[in-house]
Amino acid sequence: MQLGTLYGISVGPGDPELITLKGLRILKEAPVVAFPAGIHSKPGIAQSIVEQWLNKYQVQLPLNFPYVQDQVTLTQAWQKAAEQVWQYLQLGQDVAFVCEGDISFYSTFTYLAEILQQLHPESLVQRIPGVCSPLATASVLGEPLTVRSDRLVVLPALYNVEELETILDWADVVVLMKVSSVYPQIWKVLQRRQLLKNTVVVERATLPEQVIYADLRDRPTLKLPYFSLLIVKVTQSIR
Ligand SMILES: C[S@@+](CC[C@H](N)C(=O)[O-])C[C@H]1O[C@@H](n2cnc3c(N)ncnc32)[C@H](O)[C@@H]1O
Repeated sequence: MQLGTLYGISVGPGDPELITLKGLRILKEAPVVAFPAGIHSKPGIAQSIVEQWLNKYQVQLPLNFPYVQDQVTLTQAWQKAAEQVWQYLQLGQDVAFVCEGDISFYSTFTYLAEILQQLHPESLVQRIPGVCSPLATASVLGEPLTVRSDRLVVLPALYNVEELETILDWADVVVLMKVSSVYPQIWKVLQRRQLLKNTVVVERATLPEQVIYADLRDRPTLKLPYFSLLIVKVTQSIR
């Protein structure tokens, strides 16, 4: 029997219409739709983005990816998820794994696909690209993210402040993902460098609950959700 394919489908940052035509077609045709399970029995973000595109005949497969750093726990969770997906692939059914933003940009899909191919080297995987959060955020700000020869740095998370200092010495534009837990430290660095007026934070870009904080000079603390990112225009003004 022919094996099914695991498709990694980028569904964009929140607005359901920011999926590509190709992603939408494959998503609608797949008999099985997988997604990272939400926490506290709420739907996960990717699941809620695609909800309106699914039909009642599709199997919905929530996969548990714990929010921990421990490598053993993570590997066990990825292995379990890969076996859950394999159950369908070996029956010849395609599985569409939906991912918030772009599938190749800091996505859990990477680990799922890697482990699936380790456990079952014959498995077939395809990635469908999409809109990642920094680019979506630039569009909601109504500005380009970069122009001319701007040097762009994306920090997936800030592990120490020195790292940010080094990058601010070099880059023209800096994007900080996962900013919510480290915002007060970042604010101090940007204040010392007089960059707060050139900095923007966007929560839940492109969703109805989107919030934009421009000019952060009066905001040493901010209670931000996980889906927030910060953009610093180091060598030019944001607006
Ligand atoms: C694990 S990364 C996933 C990135 C995603 N694959 C992408 O292409 O943007 C999660 C981080 O992406 C950023 N992010 C994703 N979607 C966002 C949105 N709609 N608004 C603001 N930030 C977002 C946040 O910084 C969040 O902490």
